[in-house]
Amino acid sequence: MKNITVIGSGTMGNGIAHTFAQNGFNVSLVDISDSALQKALQTIAGNLDRQIKKGSIDEAAKTATLNNIKTYTDVKEGAANADLVVEAATENREIKLKLFKQLSEVCKPGVILASNTSSISITEIAAATANPANVIGMHFMNPVPVMKLVEVIRGYATTDEVTGTIMELSRQLGKAPVEVNDYPGFVANRILMPMINEAVYTLFEGVAGVHEIDTVMKLGMAHPMGPLQLADFIGLDVCLAILKVLHNGFGNPKYAPCPLLVNMVTAGHLGVKSGSGFYKYTAGSKDLVVAEKFA
Ligand SMILES: NC(=O)c1ccc[n+]([C@@H]2O[C@H](COP(=O)([O-])OP(=O)(O)OC[C@H]3O[C@@H](n4cnc5c(N)ncnc54)[C@H](O)[C@@H]3O)[C@@H](O)[C@H]2O)c1
Repeated sequence: MKNITVIGSGTMGNGIAHTFAQNGFNVSLVDISDSALQKALQTIAGNLDRQIKKGSIDEAAKTATLNNIKTYTDVKEGAANADLVVEAATENREIKLKLFKQLSEVCKPGVILASNTSSISITEIAAATANPANVIGMHFMNPVPVMKLVEVIRGYATTDEVTGTIMELSRQLGKAPVEVNDYPGFVANRILMPMINEAVYTLFEGVAGVHEIDTVMKLGMAHPMGPLQLADFIGLDVCLAILKVLHNGFGNPKYAPCPLLVNMVTAGHLGVKSGSGFYKYTAGSKDLVVAEKFA
């Protein structure tokens, strides 16, 4: 396996492309938006610079990594040569079903089609393709170059061979893969999202402010980051989309998204990527300024 196509160059796509490229794979990075591709290349270069500063890589490794990445705005062109496609496009069922149908038509026979979806059914995505046996979930965590876990999700039809290949490939990337079955939210988000939602409810009901909620979870539970800050990093729109999948998939009101989360997404406060969520992210600064509204 040498040629990897990554579809979507946002938060996750750029990290996945970075990780494969740094490990010597040829990466074709595809996005419908050329500006998203340019921004992704800048982000990857910036993250490689940070690795150089830390002493974990040298300048030559940065150049080699960037040279391993080519960008495309056309899926057919970007995926024609792929041995593996990792899809990390927007968390939207219709977009993913359409993409997988198209990928199954334009890719080489035998290609493995993986999705980085946080919550959408791998079995349903696979059913949109001609060969569901070769479709699997490869759920990286954010930030991809740093986080060790890959949640490997077997769809109903995924074969042992394909699962074994993806587990082994994840290890080659220096990651720790964990195999799970395909039910709403898999394992990671089935546990994480209800916690984030409960933190938003705690704020919504006025039990405590943003700082207080995050501090309780950081210092009391030894979490490296509070749930509200984590939600900002994940993207509040992504959190809302995952909660909707859990709510619809299990039909249990305990997964109903907090109205405050719904309002914030509707108002365009999506977290780090939009500059404000539960915290404000001032340009050029790494400091989080708690939004006055929720302080
Ligand atoms: N953000 C996280 O922390 C996180 C963690 C794990 C998994 N995920 C999953 O990863 C996927 C991507 O999430 P993200 O946070 O990177 O989203 P994002 O919004 O940052 O980026 C999505 C990118 O996909 C592109 N895109 C949309 N439709 C496309 C298409 N048809 N073809 C090519 N590109 C297309 C958009 O232009 C955008 O650049 C989602 O499925 C999400 O659930 C996200």
